Amino acid sequence: MRVVSGIQPTGQPHLGNYLGAIRNYVKLQDEAVAAGGECMIFLADLHAISMPHDPAELHASTLELVATLVACGVDPNKAVLFNQAQVPAHSELQWLLNGTARMGWLNRMTQFKDKSGKNREGASVALFTYPVLQAADVLLYQATHVPVGEDQKQHLELARDIAQKFNNDFASEEAPVFTLPDPIIPPEAARIMSLRDGSAKMSKSDPSDMSRINLADDADTMAKKVKKAKTDPEPLPSEAKGLEERAEALNLVAIYAALAGTSVDAVLGDFGGQGFGAFKPALAELLVETLSPIRDRFVELKADREALDAILARGAAQARELASPTLKAAYEALGLIRG
Ligand code: TYM
Repeated sequence: MRVVSGIQPTGQPHLGNYLGAIRNYVKLQDEAVAAGGECMIFLADLHAISMPHDPAELHASTLELVATLVACGVDPNKAVLFNQAQVPAHSELQWLLNGTARMGWLNRMTQFKDKSGKNREGASVALFTYPVLQAADVLLYQATHVPVGEDQKQHLELARDIAQKFNNDFASEEAPVFTLPDPIIPPEAARIMSLRDGSAKMSKSDPSDMSRINLADDADTMAKKVKKAKTDPEPLPSEAKGLEERAEALNLVAIYAALAGTSVDAVLGDFGGQGFGAFKPALAELLVETLSPIRDRFVELKADREALDAILARGAAQARELASPTLKAAYEALGLIRG
């Protein structure tokens, strides 16, 4: 079992990242250790330069995100926690995979369409080839399990397509160069939506801070954001069916269910018939209860720059070693001479 996943150090990590992905990193890290496998979690800083960015901010956010991940339970003694730019094999394998990825496949990627918007001609080339780097990230380590939110599913399918074509074109069936990775998507929190708009996902890049719960928010801020979250005047139904047309209401109930480790139906069993005046304070309390210890730990860890640097140095050394056999196999399969 080889678990691999990445998260971009841009903006503030939020509740969607936590429920959709980070919580699963921790669960799978423990499963991987128990199974004698590895769990590798990295900061996708190379991906972050695909959009306009401030270098000083990227540098600071990268270190903060290490502190956030450790605060959430990613344990550098159990998982390999590292920064993508410290392991040049990611960029090298991306170039090798550029020979296999097809323009038509990348043209279908919805994230490129969303992020480039109307300005396709002005988008960076990195934004277009971003999914190839993401494929390299997981294929480099022969990943079997990739914990992600729903929005990354298409990128993972592309990684499988690239692996399959490369194996077909340059390897034998008995000795494939790459393993086909499986996405691991949590059923109850695959797509946490914005608190201001039930049709948009909760995102680091939303200009409104009120649209998301940041993991670094204090208790009062979280409570205020929940109180101001968009809802409707109807009371909650007693079954999930009744929430089909009520995206904002469903989102809040789904967040509650994910935090409480239960189902939407079970939450509605408790709150059905009640209005948001009763539900929102209960949700705020549960949020604060879950996220406050993470925030406290984050504040402590963030202050110890030396410890963060040491975690990254150790993780990068481990990752470079684990990357080396697959990178070598890929060069050789392509007939490239490296000396
Ligand atoms: P990123 O940094 O946008 O998000 C990190 C993880 O959080 C999940 N996520 C969500 N889950 C549920 N609801 C939401 N509103 C929500 N927003 C974000 C994402 O699905 C992701 O799992 N391209 C990736 C980073 C990456 C990567 C990889 C992931 C680079 N290489 C290799 C896996 C494997 C990204 O930008 O995630």
